[in-house]
Amino acid sequence: MILLLNGPNLNLLGEREPDIYGRTTLAEIEKMVVDACAGWTVQVKAFQSNHEGKLIDFLHEHRKAAKGIILNPGALTHTSYALHDALKAVPAPAIEVHLSNIHAREGFRHTSVTAPACRGVIAGLGYRGYILAAEWLCAESGALPRDPTRRKGQ
Ligand code: DQA
Repeated sequence: MILLLNGPNLNLLGEREPDIYGRTTLAEIEKMVVDACAGWTVQVKAFQSNHEGKLIDFLHEHRKAAKGIILNPGALTHTSYALHDALKAVPAPAIEVHLSNIHAREGFRHTSVTAPACRGVIAGLGYRGYILAAEWLCAESGALPRDPTRRKGQ
């Protein structure tokens, strides 16, 4: 199972500061991630919350089944040591995704306290960052391509 987690304010994607975050809604992004994983024997479980503790509870609940995590923590990126520690408690690799290039914005966004608990970070590529993260996780998570002719050694 691949977990797709989105933090505070990302439920408003599409209408929230579209010049920065784009016009694609979260529902559309979730569908694109499901589609990106459709060729692999892996399920996607999506969750969004505006509450730090709910994101942490979701990670705990799925920590054993998770084969990979795609996470946009929103502003919790810059503050949440608790989310950092929760990511560390899950063995599956996590990829942090930001729609905007956080390094090219206000100073408080330049630091991610959650990124050190992640395998990689994608920032500034808009909604496509989520798709790239999904493709990497599918290829690396041990999931098999659904098309048996694409399986290694065949
Ligand atoms: C964000 C960047 C954060 O700084 C901001 O608080 C967000 C969205 C992004 O996707 O670019 O809510 O994570």
